[in-house]
Amino acid sequence: MVVLRVVMMAGVVAAAAALPLAAEEAEQLLAEQCSRCHGSETYSRPERRMNSLAELRTQVRNCELMLGLSWFDPEIDTVTAHLNRRYYHFPTPEIGGGSE
Ligand code: HEC
Repeated sequence: MVVLRVVMMAGVVAAAAALPLAAEEAEQLLAEQCSRCHGSETYSRPERRMNSLAELRTQVRNCELMLGLSWFDPEIDTVTAHLNRRYYHFPTPEIGGGSE
């Protein structure tokens, strides 16, 4: 039983540590790969075109493909979730489990 408790606690610590890391990773990806054509002002401009989290994710994917990158789903999700948290604030049932 003691062993099980220790394993469970280790899992909780790892999950808690994952959040800032994801944000950091997303910031780095955006700065390195995405700032060539537009900066963060595009995400916060009043006339921005995204109307939902699904649209945002599609746009992230389109821009990533346009760049010729080959991001995997976790990178798309990390950047989408980060842009949403920071700029768009859509409700998030599709990714991240819905609770912040
Ligand atoms: C080759 C140039 C280019 C690169 C590089 C690029 N984008 Fe874009 N992005 C665009 C264009 C063009 C638009 C549409 C802007 C407009 O409508 O004025 C856009 C729009 C967006 C939008 C929607 C903005 C809105 O209206 O709300 C998001 C989100 C976005 N890009 C994310 C990214 C991400 C993430 C990356 C890095 C993977 C990236 N972009 C890299 C060209 C690019």
